[in-house]
Amino acid sequence: MAAHPHPAPTDPAGDPTTAALIAAHPALSMHAMDGLMLDEVPLAAIARAVGTPTWVISAATLRDRLASLRAALGPDVAIHYAMKANDHLAVLRILAAGGAGADVVSGGELARARAAGIAPGNIVFSGVGKSRAEMALALAEGIGQINVESAEELGRLSAVASAMGRTATVALRVNPDVDADTHAKITTGKAENKFGIAWEDAARLYAHAATLPGLAPVGLAVHIGSQILSMAPYRAAYARVAGLVRELRAGGHAVTHLDCGGGLGISYRGETEASPAAFAGALRSTLGGLDLALSIEPGRWLAGPAGLLLASVIQEKQTAHRRFVILDAAMNDLLRPALYEAWHGIVPVSPIDALAPSSPADVVGPVCESGDSFALGRLLPRLGEGALVALLDAGAYGSVMSSSYNARAFAAQVLVDGAKWAIIRARPPVDTLWEQDICPAWL
Ligand code: LLP
Repeated sequence: MAAHPHPAPTDPAGDPTTAALIAAHPALSMHAMDGLMLDEVPLAAIARAVGTPTWVISAATLRDRLASLRAALGPDVAIHYAMKANDHLAVLRILAAGGAGADVVSGGELARARAAGIAPGNIVFSGVGKSRAEMALALAEGIGQINVESAEELGRLSAVASAMGRTATVALRVNPDVDADTHAKITTGKAENKFGIAWEDAARLYAHAATLPGLAPVGLAVHIGSQILSMAPYRAAYARVAGLVRELRAGGHAVTHLDCGGGLGISYRGETEASPAAFAGALRSTLGGLDLALSIEPGRWLAGPAGLLLASVIQEKQTAHRRFVILDAAMNDLLRPALYEAWHGIVPVSPIDALAPSSPADVVGPVCESGDSFALGRLLPRLGEGALVALLDAGAYGSVMSSSYNARAFAAQVLVDGAKWAIIRARPPVDTLWEQDICPAWL
């Protein structure tokens, strides 16, 4: 049952209210007795059983979001989930069962995708620097496509493939020099970024690739950045790439595949998320009629809204200047606020807390860095020791970016599936943190 049937959309700070945040997440609801629920599971029950901090992810949300992307794109656009967003085997299995392949950026991700049962033919290998060992692994596994980002990499891949007597199916990732209008640390399609083949070199290198042994160039790839909310940068990039496809074909080259990248943005702070229908429209209007096999590599859009980080309040701290809410989660768990000043919704789990009067607070972790902060001046009720909060939209670039800084053990992970839930990664005992340490005998 919803506690606020008609939520005011924003509070005086311009942030979405608790009620608006809950309303924007179909998997979340505030139950009068059980408090904040993810699908049919009370988050308080998970915290009681597993402790905090704990990542919790909704299987239904992963399935629903993949299905709505698929419905908008139609059956012909291949979806390769960018597993860097959340590479848990259970997440991979859910998305693979819904028909997604994987976009991988390391030998480790490739091995994980295979361990989750994703067929090699549905795997694309992206990334600006692949080692020879990673190339060899990709070729031995027979993965679908390797996206190459430089002349140097073409040469190295050709050498590795030839030595193995294999042919690598290759797409050239081009840099369209388009501003994705997102955070500077996650923009990738500007000429000064390290990613992709410079626009002026693309046609020449495509021709060159066709002459190299062990390589079968089939097309192009482009990825301009992440958390993109407007379709204009996509249209600009795809229109440029369409021009390049025509130019290459006019030069007698076969171009059959185009990997359109990822980057679709989600709503963290009440923004309108990128719509699958609008994205499908951008693809159609710029690339339709070119008879290309299209694929995309979404990460955040599929996994972000599905997950949250459940944390407990250690204590509040009031100084002459500020009110601090100190959580047992920290920047080592969810790094995005510290690294990108990212905004994540913070929702009290108790139904009483959720309705109590609120005042501005800085929400911080216990790590010894001033940057270890989740929110500044956030309107929250008084939160006593042990009060639970959920940090929303943490399903993508959350657990995967964790570290053990300050000798903090990695958080546990839980999957919710309807009314069922299960621990999908146990909280490791703290001594596993120094299990691989070796003290030399002379000490
Ligand atoms: N394809 C390539 C080649 C990529 O580099 C990326 C993300 C994706 C696909 C997926 O992008 P998505 O659909 O998730 O936007 N840690 C940052 C995001 C880094 C994205 C890196 N590349 C964050 O927390 O915002």
